[in-house]
Amino acid sequence: MKNTVLTFKQAKSEGKKLSMLTAYDYSMAKIIDESNVNGILIGDSLGMVVKGEEDTLSVTMEEIIYHTKAVKRGAKNSLIVSDMPFLSYHVSIEQAVSNAGRLVKEGGASAVKLEGGVNIAAQVKAIVDAQIPVMGHIGLTPQSVNTFGGFKVQGKSKSAAKKLIEDAVLLEKAGVFSIVLEGIPEKVAELITSSVSIPTIGIGAGKYCDGQILVYQDMLGMFSDFIPKFVKQYANLGMIMKEAIGSYVKEVQEGAFPEEKHTFKIDESELQKLY
Ligand code: KIV
Repeated sequence: MKNTVLTFKQAKSEGKKLSMLTAYDYSMAKIIDESNVNGILIGDSLGMVVKGEEDTLSVTMEEIIYHTKAVKRGAKNSLIVSDMPFLSYHVSIEQAVSNAGRLVKEGGASAVKLEGGVNIAAQVKAIVDAQIPVMGHIGLTPQSVNTFGGFKVQGKSKSAAKKLIEDAVLLEKAGVFSIVLEGIPEKVAELITSSVSIPTIGIGAGKYCDGQILVYQDMLGMFSDFIPKFVKQYANLGMIMKEAIGSYVKEVQEGAFPEEKHTFKIDESELQKLY
């Protein structure tokens, strides 16, 4: 079934949980899409899990467009949401709308995601007015890593929690169809979820959110630099991949690969002409 922003809105009213994963390329998008997730995010987490950077700040519009195109070709039924990179929506409202438009026109995204609350409400409204669905993202927003002084859980004091609730309500008013809640206490996420009529998608925000999202390399055990507390590893593909690659290396060294069935033939008569 094709997922749209309507699927997301309906899910909340029907009490159905939504699932999302990140993807950055065609093959993975196809596997994820065929596993019936509701949405795929081309996250700027690619700065870390694809490019090997320490944070997401270096990710460019060109990179997100490139990866969105690849994911779009592989995903037929999931809602495709593209992250707006750091500083692609902060400089001016015009630039925010124009960059959001590029993700849709050039990348093929069906929605864009912006990090922030009241500080980006005007951009959100302008993008929504341009008929581009927007997903919000509050809490431990990775693009604010330098302001937060590290990747730290947010909303732990009364005032910080209140601010998150206010931000969520404001984002809904500005027109977002859904909000990612990242790295906040479960009970604060529950309060936010009951304060808005749009679905909340949690990552490190506990079980009361209307849906969940994870970075696929984290949940499949393919990223070993660090494993956040909120990640559940559903498989250790990193280990399986290392074993498989190790077998390949060994077989190449021993001459066991390629076998007869992996090779192409030439007619004996043609071959003789070469000698
Ligand atoms: O960039 C990303 O992958 C994200 C998710 C973790 C929510 O923003």
